[in-house]
Amino acid sequence: MGKSPVILVLLSLCLAAVVFSQETTKPAAKGDAVRGKQVFENSCEECHDAYSREERVGPGLQGAKGGKLPDGRPASHDKLLDIINTGPAEMPSFKERLTEQQKEDVVAFVMTL
Ligand code: HEC
Repeated sequence: MGKSPVILVLLSLCLAAVVFSQETTKPAAKGDAVRGKQVFENSCEECHDAYSREERVGPGLQGAKGGKLPDGRPASHDKLLDIINTGPAEMPSFKERLTEQQKEDVVAFVMTL
């Protein structure tokens, strides 16, 4: 017996470290609209109304769940992500300002509007 409990503890610590590092490097999980609402309030709401098509700095985004953006383009996941990363016209790019997860979350939220 002697040292085996110590070895077991060390082994489980190693295992935990491996599992943890995989946890933190895996790609962004599917968007969560509840968290996305928070991201929207922090980053988008100053320019976009979520609950109407009234113009602020940019167009109100209400109606995206019907499949169309205010300008008539399709409101798909990829299109929204592209807009967030590019920042068309006066809209700033959020490529570096939000994490991949925050982008997924805010896209999920916009798709519920
Ligand atoms: C500083 C103001 C500003 C902020 C902040 C901003 N936007 Fe915009 N956004 C605009 C403007 C202005 C346009 C219109 C650009 C154009 O004329 O093509 C726009 C366009 C869009 C469009 C396309 C609408 C359409 O029908 O063409 C989407 C979707 C959008 N923004 C989502 C977002 C999201 C999501 C965020 C937050 C992560 C955000 N915006 C933050 C100003 C902003």
